[in-house]
Amino acid sequence: MSVVVKRVTAMLALGGAVLASAPAFADADEDNLVINGDIAIVTEAKAPAHMEYVDTIYSGWRFRSDETQVMQADDFDNPGMIGVENAMEKWAAVDGSEGKSCASCHGDAEESMVGVRPVYPKWNEEAQEVRTLEMQVNDCRENRMGAEKWGYTSGSMVDMVALITSVSRGMPVSVAIDGPVAETWEQGKELYYSRTGQLELSCANCHEDNYGNMIRADHLSQGQINGFPVYRLKNTKLNGVHARFKGCVRDTMAETYSPGSAEFVALELYVASRGNGLSVEGPSVRN
Ligand code: HEC
Ligand code: HEC
Repeated sequence: MSVVVKRVTAMLALGGAVLASAPAFADADEDNLVINGDIAIVTEAKAPAHMEYVDTIYSGWRFRSDETQVMQADDFDNPGMIGVENAMEKWAAVDGSEGKSCASCHGDAEESMVGVRPVYPKWNEEAQEVRTLEMQVNDCRENRMGAEKWGYTSGSMVDMVALITSVSRGMPVSVAIDGPVAETWEQGKELYYSRTGQLELSCANCHEDNYGNMIRADHLSQGQINGFPVYRLKNTKLNGVHARFKGCVRDTMAETYSPGSAEFVALELYVASRGNGLSVEGPSVRN
């Protein structure tokens, strides 16, 4: 019961926020992010042409407190980098019936994986499917290594995605939305604008209509995923994109899709495309 009361309070708070500020496009702070004094991160960009209702896109980093922001400016202070280190060991470890490690085929991740993150999810011609990074990693494990798949939101998986992401930090997100992925992208867009749950809220109601506003104690961002995987101070671990989607859908009091489901893959493609032009910055730090 108390959960319901809390959610309804959230909805009312949101309603209040809608009334309080007609043009809600404010309140991303003016801070700049340079990681390790070296990697300049684009946290604000002109919205991609396909976005109808937003002119400027912002990384979620711009909505966090200074204390949280600063943790991402240096890898020694970024707790998400522990996941990257763990994944480096896994990258080199032989596993499965074929006696291979990731490194056996791909060499150094720091070289071979540069530029991979910014274009995912992407079309895989052979499999005729849209693949997230997680799906691709499991495809290599299962079909190239003869190893067991990792759970979609498991620690091993999120760490590996963090490693692959980290070597592309600073590069602009640039997922394709046309050609063979167009249908999936449309499906993702529809999910983004569909109101769900007892609160009848869509992703857009919070992350497009109300970013910059407060919802309970949280400063609402645009819900971008250029920072994923995200180390959350709240649950003190790295979180993948679908785990975050699941939490947000649950907050609307709706039945949620499973991580790795076709629906969340489509939603990820669409949400990723809303960040085209922002820098890849994962693993990032958020509250
Ligand atoms: C036996 C060789 C082999 C092993 C071992 C292997 N891969 Fe792959 N991997 C490939 C090939 C070949 C491709 C390209 C296949 C394709 O496009 O479907 C690929 C593609 C990828 C891609 C996508 C790259 C891109 O540009 O889109 C990622 C990410 C990846 N592998 C990660 C891994 C990880 C992580 C591991 C270890 C858990 C691993 N691979 C193990 C052969 C391998
Ligand atoms: C009731 C309002 C609400 C709805 C509806 C909602 N979210 Fe969120 N979302 C939040 C809050 C609050 C946060 C935490 C603060 C922030 O980063 O915006 C958040 C965070 C996020 C983040 C993390 C951003 C980052 O930089 O770490 C993503 C991604 C996200 N939401 C995506 C979605 C998607 C996709 C949907 C629709 C399925 C959705 N949200 C629906 C409230 C909402």
